[in-house]
Amino acid sequence: MSGPGGLSRRHFLRLAASGAAVAVGGGVPLLLSCGDSTGPDPGERGRSPLRTPESLGISGTSLTAAAGLAGIGAGDPAAAWLFNGVLPGPTIRARRGDQAQIRLLNQLTEPTIVHWHGVIVPEEADGHPRDAVGPGGTYDYAFPIVQRAGTFWYHPHPHQQTAGQIHRGLAGFFLVADDEEDALGLPAGEREILLLLQDRDGDAGAAFSYAPTEADLHTGMLRDVPFGNGIRLPRLSVTGARYRFRVLNASHGRVYRLGLADGTPLSVIGNDGGLLPSLAEVDSVFLGVGERIDFLLDFSGVPVGSRLMLKSLPFEVPGPPGSGSSQGAEMDLLELWREGGTGGEEPALPTVLSSVAPLAAPAAERLFVLQSTTQGSMHRINDLSFDMERVDEQVPLGQVERWVFRNESALPHPMHLHGTQFQVESRTGGRGTVYPYEAGWKDTVTVFPLETVNVLVRFDRYRGLFLLHCHNLQHEDLGMMLNVEVV
Ligand code: C2O
Ligand code: CU
Ligand code: CU
Repeated sequence: MSGPGGLSRRHFLRLAASGAAVAVGGGVPLLLSCGDSTGPDPGERGRSPLRTPESLGISGTSLTAAAGLAGIGAGDPAAAWLFNGVLPGPTIRARRGDQAQIRLLNQLTEPTIVHWHGVIVPEEADGHPRDAVGPGGTYDYAFPIVQRAGTFWYHPHPHQQTAGQIHRGLAGFFLVADDEEDALGLPAGEREILLLLQDRDGDAGAAFSYAPTEADLHTGMLRDVPFGNGIRLPRLSVTGARYRFRVLNASHGRVYRLGLADGTPLSVIGNDGGLLPSLAEVDSVFLGVGERIDFLLDFSGVPVGSRLMLKSLPFEVPGPPGSGSSQGAEMDLLELWREGGTGGEEPALPTVLSSVAPLAAPAAERLFVLQSTTQGSMHRINDLSFDMERVDEQVPLGQVERWVFRNESALPHPMHLHGTQFQVESRTGGRGTVYPYEAGWKDTVTVFPLETVNVLVRFDRYRGLFLLHCHNLQHEDLGMMLNVEVV
C-alpha cells in the first residue's frame, strides 16, 4: 500500500510521534526532510497528496465521457465515470478572444450533454438538457470566449440525471485568462492550486456510486468525508511563498464555510465571474454548490514544518428548528504542510483589482419564490416544476432587471443562471448581509433559509433559451429549474 520503504517510514513516524524525534506545533511530527513532495506517510495519517488536474486546450479538442477507474489516494481505486479517463476532468484553459472547438463523445450507458458553467456561450453550445445525446453519440461545441478571466467549470446537464453523473466523477475546471488578470502577476504554475471540493462517502466502493436516500432527496446528498480533486482527505505541501487557491464547490448540497483553522484571513481576489473590484480580506467564505472563490495565501511567515488546515468552519443554518442535517458541520478539507524553500520577491498586492461597472436602474422586476416541502421531496420555483418544453420567463436582451429570490423553505438554495453573470444587490432576512467576496460578477448565489436575495441581471450577449435553477443537484434533478428565453 505504501510501496517500497513504506514500513520503515511508518516505523520512523511512530518513533517521531512517540517523542523520539523533534515535534513542532502541537506535537505534529516533523518529517519533512525526506526530499519528496508527498510529505508524511499517507497510510499513517490517512491523507494523500492533492492531485493537479491535467490541462486541455480548447481548439480541436475532445472530451470523452466513459466509465473507468480512478485513484482516490490511499487504498483501492474507485469505479467512476470520467472525462478523458481522468478525475477530475481535464482543466480546460482558454484566453479571452479564443475560439473553442470541442467535441463531446458519449461513451456512457445513458444520455449526457456538457454545460460550461459560468461561460457565456450561444444557446446551442450551452448544454441545455434538450440537447442531450444518447450512448455512442457526439455533440460539437463551437463558441468564442467573450468574457473576462475567471474560474469556471464544466459538468453534465442531462434531464434528471445531472446529480448521478457529476457524482460519479464528471466535472472539471474551465479557466479563462486575459490581459487584465495577467497584469496582476498572480501566482502561477506550482503556486496556482485548483481545488474541486466534494463531500462523499469515505468508503472507496460507496464514494462514487449514486444511491440517494429519501433524506438526500430533500436536503441534497450530504456526506462527511471531504474529497479534493477526487482525492479523499487531501494534503498539500507548500513553500514559503504566496499561493493562489481557486476553489470550486462541486458537491451535491453542501455549503462550505472556508477558512483556516488558525484564523489566518483569506485574501479574496475573485469569485464566480472573475476578479473582484478590490481585494477582500475575510476570515471565512460561504461557498454554496456551484460557486467559486479565488484567494491568495502567503506562507512565507509560516515556520517550516508546521501544519495548517483549510477547513469548513461550523455554522448554523438559519431557519426553523428541525431543519437539521449535517449542513454546517465542521470539516477538515485540505491539510497544508509548510516545507522549506521560498518564493523570492513578491509584487505588492494591489488593492484595486479590476473595474466592474455596476448595473443600475432596473427596468423590470421578477420574483422567484423558492419552495421545498418536507413531505415528498418537492423542490419548486414559483410552484413550477421544470418542463423542458415550457418557456417560463421571457427577458429582453440588454435590459437590466432586478430578480428577487425569496426562499420560503428551511434549506439553502444556490441559485444559478446560465447565459450571463449578475450582481448581488441585497440580502434581507436570514444572514442579512451581502459579503465583500460577493462583489463583482456572479453566476450562482446561495440563498439561505428564509432569506431574500436581490440580484441585478442583464443578458447582453445572446438571445435564446437558457436556464435558471437551484444547483443543489438533487433539487435540480427533481425539477427546481426554469426555462428563461432571452428575446
Ligand atoms: Cu452548473 Cu445549469 O449548471
Ligand atoms: Cu451553468
Ligand atoms: Cu435548492
